[in-house]
Amino acid sequence: MSKKEQILVTSALPYANGPLHIGHLAGAYLPADIFTRYHRLKGSDIVFICGSDEHGVAITIRAEQDGVRPQEIIDRYHELNKGSFERFGMSFDNYSRTSLPIHHETGRDFFLDIYNKGILKKKQEKQFYDEQAGMFLPDRYVEGTCPKCNEEGARGDQCEKCGSDLNQTDLINPISKVSGKRPVLRETSHWYFPLGDFQDKLKNYLDQRPWWKENVRNYCYGWIKQGLQDRAVTRDLNWGIKVPVDGADGKVIYVWFEAVLGYISSTREWAQKIGQPQRWKDYWQNENCKLIHFIGKDNIVFHAVMFPIFLMAKAGYTLPQDVPANEFLNLEGRKISTSRNYAIWLEDYLAHFPPDPLRYCLAAIAPETKDADFSWKDFQTRNNSELVGILGNFVNRSLTFAHKYFDGQVPAQGRLDGLDKKMLQLLAKAPERIGACIEKYTVRQALREVMDVAREANKYFNDKEPWRSVKNNKQECGTTINICVQVSRALAIFMAPFLPHSAVKLWHLLNQDGDIHKQQWASAGTVFVADGHPLNPPEILFSKIEDDVITAEIDKLKSNSSSESETKKTIAVPAATDKISFADFQKVDLRVATILQAEKVAKTDKLLQLQVQIGDEKRQIIAGMAEHTAPEDLPGKTVVVVANLKPAKIRGLESQGMLLAAESEDGKLSLLTVEKEIESGAKIR
Ligand code: 2FM
Ligand code: ZN
Repeated sequence: MSKKEQILVTSALPYANGPLHIGHLAGAYLPADIFTRYHRLKGSDIVFICGSDEHGVAITIRAEQDGVRPQEIIDRYHELNKGSFERFGMSFDNYSRTSLPIHHETGRDFFLDIYNKGILKKKQEKQFYDEQAGMFLPDRYVEGTCPKCNEEGARGDQCEKCGSDLNQTDLINPISKVSGKRPVLRETSHWYFPLGDFQDKLKNYLDQRPWWKENVRNYCYGWIKQGLQDRAVTRDLNWGIKVPVDGADGKVIYVWFEAVLGYISSTREWAQKIGQPQRWKDYWQNENCKLIHFIGKDNIVFHAVMFPIFLMAKAGYTLPQDVPANEFLNLEGRKISTSRNYAIWLEDYLAHFPPDPLRYCLAAIAPETKDADFSWKDFQTRNNSELVGILGNFVNRSLTFAHKYFDGQVPAQGRLDGLDKKMLQLLAKAPERIGACIEKYTVRQALREVMDVAREANKYFNDKEPWRSVKNNKQECGTTINICVQVSRALAIFMAPFLPHSAVKLWHLLNQDGDIHKQQWASAGTVFVADGHPLNPPEILFSKIEDDVITAEIDKLKSNSSSESETKKTIAVPAATDKISFADFQKVDLRVATILQAEKVAKTDKLLQLQVQIGDEKRQIIAGMAEHTAPEDLPGKTVVVVANLKPAKIRGLESQGMLLAAESEDGKLSLLTVEKEIESGAKIR
């Protein structure tokens, strides 16, 4: 007996820093789930692995934005995302977390192994540092203008607009995400992985995988052509896996080095859970196992260049057999944006619709070769015309007929005519046709093939006119309905990878034993429901979606996107690291003052010489406001000053206090004034 095909499927571990949206589902999860469900039906020995990516700057920035600890963020979103995946039927064998001890151990082991082999190089380097926040700024902590496409707000590690992989120091006008200030360069040291040392091996590895998708291959060869550079595998951060070597205080392993190892630790966790702790090795230490990473295109370099190299360096591990990266999904013609709330969040969707119609629509438009666009109208049409109108209609009319005219039992299959035979032949060939598409990761085409079976079945029903034969040739009518039941059974199996919830329902309507998801894929074309088999009463498989429901969803999106343009830009406020007491705050004597006179300080661009009244005292203040306000506009203004600042000399002039002003991200100053009329000298508290 030939050994079963061994496959390990992974879907990118999503960051546990926010909820999931339809773009996530379309790229790395739904195609992997369809592939896995199909292979289970085919009888392959397949394990499907995923989990939350819980380290790195994506998490710490989110925690700072929300003013909570990173642990709170990952706990919140791990549970939420795990639940959303379950509700959409993602059939992971294990959904792990990279904050678990088993993952930290895996990450440390890999790092130490490579370190002990002398592969890593320690380098002294200058890195961006936020003087106000007192911290180094790894990766996304710095944003600026992309040097490749000029997009503003490009992240320090990657430009989302053009997809370029960036170094922070390449950014034009770098700004710290923590303080909104321009960071300075400061000395630090990091361990680097010399990817270039593995370049020839990588090329050889890619040359041996000509079946990879063209976009992925081109991308990898592009990297090789440019020459692989050393890549830092540590970061100055206090959230992550601590670097397990001496002299690495305050440093963690780079998230991308360890996140990909999350696939291994999740498989190890799965093996422990099923009581066979060594079983993970069947997949990870087995050159015959097919390791397949489903990802979005933004993750190609990490899975198709770096991870294979890390695994080569470690040695003895299964290398990825394929990396079927998908393109992006847009929404109503625009890019999905999590930060701008321009997305369809999975939990919002589920509050209004069942999961299978979205699975159907996303599989039908899967962004396999180019970016795809989701629109609510298209979703409605696919649901109403295809799921309801073709698939649901065929099953419903067949089962209703059986109930109405054959007491809810499968009528006997009599003599077959040409149309009957043609229908059965089509059924016999369908498992292979559909399966071949899924095995090539073309789920769009695979779904089309499934729907073609349903289309042909409707045509068969129409051509056979059972409503006519039931009156004049009941036996022939019985044969027609018998074949329709056989087609329905096959459709239940074909639907199972794509529409797992509806497939269960159909299996029940057909009153079939066992779990639909444990059937044999090939049986769809060959195993028949017996004559006389009792069927369950028919029920609707899919429901129509009305216009007003879709209009409401479109309006919701529009209001999100317009509130986006109305929303003023904000500057991230970091969580305070050193908190001050109220007594500390009281040391600063803030007072209301009235500006009496203002004039520019000669031979300077920035300075204004102000005379102010603070209570019964007159003071002189030199303020750097000349570029932001005209001196003639100031007399009479009620402002806020620090009254107990030690006097200082500025350009030879004494300044006896300080004016408070707010500074925007681009450095513009706006004077602080008070809302109501109030006496000069009033204390601010
Ligand atoms: O892009 C992301 O959401 C990453 N968290 C994907 C990681 S995939 C793997 F490395 F774990
Ligand atoms: Zn760019």
